[in-house]
Amino acid sequence: MNKPTVAVLGTGILGTPIARNLLEAGYPVRVWNRTPAKARALAEHGALAADSPAEAVDGAGVVLTVLIDAAATRAAVDAAADRLAPGTIWAEMGTVGIADVPELAALAAERNLVFVDAPVQGARPLAEQGKLLIYAAGPERAKPVLEPIFDVLGRRTDWLDNRAEGAKATAIKLVVNSWVFALTTASAEAVALARGLDLDPERFRTAIEGGPIDNAWAQMRSAAILADDFSPMFSVRSAVKDASLIASAADSADVRLDLADAVRERFEWAASDGHADQDIIATYFASFR
Ligand SMILES: NC(=O)c1ccc[n+]([C@@H]2O[C@H](COP(=O)([O-])OP(=O)(O)OC[C@H]3O[C@@H](n4cnc5c(N)ncnc54)[C@H](OP(=O)(O)O)[C@@H]3O)[C@@H](O)[C@H]2O)c1
Repeated sequence: MNKPTVAVLGTGILGTPIARNLLEAGYPVRVWNRTPAKARALAEHGALAADSPAEAVDGAGVVLTVLIDAAATRAAVDAAADRLAPGTIWAEMGTVGIADVPELAALAAERNLVFVDAPVQGARPLAEQGKLLIYAAGPERAKPVLEPIFDVLGRRTDWLDNRAEGAKATAIKLVVNSWVFALTTASAEAVALARGLDLDPERFRTAIEGGPIDNAWAQMRSAAILADDFSPMFSVRSAVKDASLIASAADSADVRLDLADAVRERFEWAASDGHADQDIIATYFASFR
């Protein structure tokens, strides 16, 4: 099958490696970003850097949205609408809320687009390595086109449903994020407690190493705290947004999540204390407020 032109709307932490990997795999790629410099940086790798969402989607067979939230996604697709050909496949790869998915699906239906809810798991390094985990829900006819693209971007795609509006892909994404956030916060708190107790905080890592309570994420993220490396793989700003989406999802399902509420409060504090653009492990600083 000929490779379709792919438009990537949003070239932030996640969208940039997504666009680069598609370029390396030989896809024609057109990119747009609100802050144009981030899109222009991809031009040297062969992307067409567009000045508007409409210019970016012109002639594209596939549109990938990798924007911060549903409002930014809706605005970009609205702005592109006149140049989106009927039948264009739109995969929404950012993280939005469960209630947002049917609204975005309805917008796609109004425009005769084929909508796929396709959030991803995996921070910047995995995106760069093309090893994201993709959760996808959408019509069967999108699969033959998207599967080769998702194979470039991810190590696996879990197809959940052929009705995107059911939001099953976004639902599992939020479930997994609640787990990631809990692990991240627990790692940060353990390092903070070790420091507070005048222990060498490295002792936390060695104390769990190799045993049944060891965990690769805890090792990696606590190592980042100890190295004073808060460069964003996944920003606190995005985590505040996702923590709120998790809370709304839990409310809608009448499920009580005490840990998620505490995690959210720490992210909110970290964001308001100047850590919004740092990695989520900056939740560590909330232990010393
Ligand atoms: N990074 C990860 O590890 C990861 C993993 C899984 C899922 N996600 C999800 O993927 C999405 C993108 O995340 P990211 O890490 O790439 O975040 P990011 O680096 O902050 O990028 C966010 C993108 O959204 C754009 N944006 C923000 N507000 C906007 C607005 N009002 N109008 C138009 N564009 C706007 C940004 O444009 P500017 O450049 O102009 O700010 C940028 O293109 C988010 O939904 C996030 O939750 C991220």
